[in-house]
Amino acid sequence: MQDKYIDETKQGEAFAIAEKPANSKKLFLESYGCQMNFSDSEIVASILNEQGYNTTLKPEEADLILLNTCSIREKAEQTVRMRLSQFKNLKKERPNLTVGVLGCMAERLKTKFLEEEQLVDLVVGPDAYRDLPNLLKETDDGRDAINVILSKEETYADINPVRLGGNGVTAFVTITRGCDNMCTFCVVPFTRGRERSRDPHSIIEECKGLWNSGYKEITLLGQNVDSYLWYGGGAKKDFKNATEMQKLTAVSFAKLLEMVAVAVPEMRIRFSTSNPHDMTTEVFKVMAEHANICKYIHLPVQSGSNTMLEKMNRQHTREEYLSLISKAKELVPDISFSQDMIIGFCGETEEDHQLTLSLMREVEYDYGYMFAYSERPGTPAHKKMEDDIPADVKQRRLAEVIALQGELSRKRMEGYVGRSHEILIEGTSRKNENQWKGRNSQNAVCVFDKQVGQKLGDMVSVFVYGNTQGTLLGTQATSAVV
Ligand code: SAH
Ligand code: F3S
Repeated sequence: MQDKYIDETKQGEAFAIAEKPANSKKLFLESYGCQMNFSDSEIVASILNEQGYNTTLKPEEADLILLNTCSIREKAEQTVRMRLSQFKNLKKERPNLTVGVLGCMAERLKTKFLEEEQLVDLVVGPDAYRDLPNLLKETDDGRDAINVILSKEETYADINPVRLGGNGVTAFVTITRGCDNMCTFCVVPFTRGRERSRDPHSIIEECKGLWNSGYKEITLLGQNVDSYLWYGGGAKKDFKNATEMQKLTAVSFAKLLEMVAVAVPEMRIRFSTSNPHDMTTEVFKVMAEHANICKYIHLPVQSGSNTMLEKMNRQHTREEYLSLISKAKELVPDISFSQDMIIGFCGETEEDHQLTLSLMREVEYDYGYMFAYSERPGTPAHKKMEDDIPADVKQRRLAEVIALQGELSRKRMEGYVGRSHEILIEGTSRKNENQWKGRNSQNAVCVFDKQVGQKLGDMVSVFVYGNTQGTLLGTQATSAVV
């Protein structure tokens, strides 16, 4: 199971739940890409729930089909285009059907979607979901509708997301939107706009609400959670200078994490995604002090070579990254890490590639999410650099990186064997319906036999007796006694 990206099998899956019985219209809502998109879809479902729509799993019975899309790599966009062409026949049969594109592809392609793709009636960017009711009035009157205006303020703080297709145990809570980092390869700053933080009080209220509804684990979400900063409700202009503003009122990510850990003391807390440039040792200290914060950080690095890191504008060196990792290991015992890597970025040499492999060995990541570089139109890398690594070289290097991560994962999983772990029951194992699956604090997946009286959401102590490359094999009770 992947924590950062939605489980591959869920990509493009539509989710539905029973909503307002009085609603008569049907919405088919399908999400692609990162956790943020899945979380945004819950906001969209909530807004449309108030407009008379309940969700359905069957596109053929929908009045409105929405795809929440991803632009991060070319392949992600191709998948969405293929899906849209599948809806062509449905639309021919039922002229009243409205088809819309939401999210990053909507933002990137804007009106091009309406011009090029005759299949789409509605284009809505990530900051314009509140405008959906107005836009739908336009499409009801037979006109195409578009809103791709990005906002510096929108956080949807007051919208209570409809929890779609979840297990009722784990949920996402968005804390920041957008990204100001401008990594040269990345399209996100262009599709999701400027970074902004959500009011901490609305975050705490949402977390408490989730606990009261039976949820046992939350993941605080943002493109770059570590740069979370809330100025106590005042605008920057209300303060004489930045230092005064921070001293008086600012809530940093470390502070927010602590506030959440205290507000819902029995809730498991995770967060994603961290950026090495913005990560502080304060965060590690808070993690060490609160047992309910999971001992796991997804800390993308993208490359082990300083030359590549500089070209990527990551704003840290290999050495700084490694010292951050050492500090975390020192302050948070038993901590685990996962990575994102981009393979074959502009000008990557064999030596750069070897540096990526050696960094991975040094950190010993539990997991990794590894991608061949995909040039994205409009990004600084597209404008100023040459995508010069041949596809076969990218693929060979990617295969080497994936193989090494496999070895490291197996080694890390072996390290969890021979002791008991607290596992949150998140569902039934896909391979064996008599077994539960869940994760330990370090985010490693564990499967074990079900026992009478146990249910989803229970926290159980499981003795790990073995492992595969990515999964822990556990057993309960008697066998835990050595
Ligand atoms: N901070 C974000 C990162 C978004 S992109 C988050 O919350 O996840 C997710 C990952 O996709 C990046 O870390 C990077 O490894 C990969 N990625 C981004 N742009 C890419 C590109 N042009 N080609 C290949 N991989 C890319
Ligand atoms: Fe993209 Fe870098 Fe932000 S990877 S989302 S620009 S931190």
